[in-house]
Amino acid sequence: KKIVFSGIQPSGNLTIGNFLGAMKYFVGLQEDYECFFAVADMHAITVPKIPKDLRKQSLELIALYLATGIDPKKSTIFIQSHVHQHAELAWVLSSISYMGQLSRMTQYKDKLQKAGEENNNSALFMYPVLMAADILLYQTDLVPVGEDQKQHLELARDLAIRFNSKYSETFKVPDGLIPKSNGRIMSLKNASSKMSKSDPDPNSAIYILDDRDTIIRKVRKAVTDSLGNFSYNDEQKELKNLINIYKAFSDMEIEDIVREYEGENYSRFKQDLGELIDSKLTPIRENYFEILEDKEYLNKVLKESGEKASYFANKTLRKVYKKVGFYQL
Ligand code: AMP
Ligand code: TRP
Repeated sequence: KKIVFSGIQPSGNLTIGNFLGAMKYFVGLQEDYECFFAVADMHAITVPKIPKDLRKQSLELIALYLATGIDPKKSTIFIQSHVHQHAELAWVLSSISYMGQLSRMTQYKDKLQKAGEENNNSALFMYPVLMAADILLYQTDLVPVGEDQKQHLELARDLAIRFNSKYSETFKVPDGLIPKSNGRIMSLKNASSKMSKSDPDPNSAIYILDDRDTIIRKVRKAVTDSLGNFSYNDEQKELKNLINIYKAFSDMEIEDIVREYEGENYSRFKQDLGELIDSKLTPIRENYFEILEDKEYLNKVLKESGEKASYFANKTLRKVYKKVGFYQL
């Protein structure tokens, strides 16, 4: 079986961008692949975090993974910090990572700008190296992620190739699995920036756990143009984003959606879109709150999957330690 690895940071409310760009695919992949899905808590501390929030959000993300239909009997869902090999491999990989390449990472530059120079810690800089370690530890074939992770994935490939040629064949070189149409869901308030869970304006994003009224209100208030003419094109980029969301949730073709609302203003479309999103998220939301109640079950899943992940991770790490010349007993 081919191996799939992906991770999500436990940094607050997940958006439909996370869902459509990544999570939605996880459930389908587990049927045909050996899947590892991590809660990237070690990545989360690269920006200021309140410890008790991080702890809570990590467990919540595990519950959300389960609620979307990831089955712990098929897939390994675990918390990154439970598998110490991630940090250990990241250290070794940092010895073959160049400062120049890391300083060109666009997410690093963006995050630094948001966090401010006083938060320019070296973990933020090392973030993509840790992500490469996550992926390479499991001899991953495929990494399902949204478009924003493309550059990081490229680094993981570079590091795998570099390590293999400097020492000898050790890592599988992973491929990305980036969705064509919903790899980048945009903000409801500004169609030039991506929908993000860290956006300070809660109306810019629909969260997976938003209730029906909130979803409908946010869609109704989403920024659109003043042309008032329903059509799918690059000039009406706000509307285009909403139509992309409609497509992703309905699995309808763009032409069929356009045909349905052609010549109208946007109000009926927006109302229908709100209801559509709610109808797809309701079952997830219901599962989520039920699962979150059962702490014992969650801990059991975490214990078993953490052990399984460690077993695989350790196999790779042992090889790496040997190749770089660490004395072993
Ligand atoms: P993060 O929230 O940064 O941990 O991202 C988790 C996953 O969601 C990654 O695979 C991202 O690429 C994906 N993702 C985040 N925001 C979006 C978005 N607006 N559109 C599509 N995918 C996204
Ligand atoms: N950096 C990713 C993000 O913010 C999350 C992540 C961490 C990840 N480790 C990973 C994604 C490994 C894929 C593979 O979206």
